[in-house]
Amino acid sequence: MTEQVVRILGASGSGLSAAERAEIEAEMRHYPDPRAASIEALKIVQQHRGWVSDESVRAVAELLGITAADVDGVATFYNLIYRHPVGRHVIKVCDSIACHLTGYDEVRDALYATLGVVHGGTTADGRFTLLPICCLGACDRGPCLLIDDDLHGPVDPAAVAALLDAYP
Ligand code: FES
Repeated sequence: MTEQVVRILGASGSGLSAAERAEIEAEMRHYPDPRAASIEALKIVQQHRGWVSDESVRAVAELLGITAADVDGVATFYNLIYRHPVGRHVIKVCDSIACHLTGYDEVRDALYATLGVVHGGTTADGRFTLLPICCLGACDRGPCLLIDDDLHGPVDPAAVAALLDAYP
């Protein structure tokens, strides 16, 4: 690749679409410190792409005028930012204390059996990714989980398969 081509690719946004760039720039106006805008920028990329690649991290850093290491640090710390491709639906199962006491183990095992993957895995058909998550703030509904943005709980392990059927 020639230097000119590299420059053109860089000028086209280094991995950010025009829409992503516009949304991130709008967020930047709300934050005097560009570092503070980085989490919103990462969420915007994830909304558009489903996950945040290394290339996107570099592009966000370039736009914000901070280092890629700074952006990567935020992305790594914030566990709702996906740094690898995920399934069409993401299941996040609360594994904090109240849910542990109300049946987390049984729900987790039902998910493992139904999906054929364990935490961190994505089903072969790309439909679901399964992840553990800290307290969802719905301890009175334990054991609970999120599928995409939908909170479910208390979840009956015997009804896990039927629950997943609602997410084609
Ligand atoms: S412990 Fe599971 S929602 Fe709080």
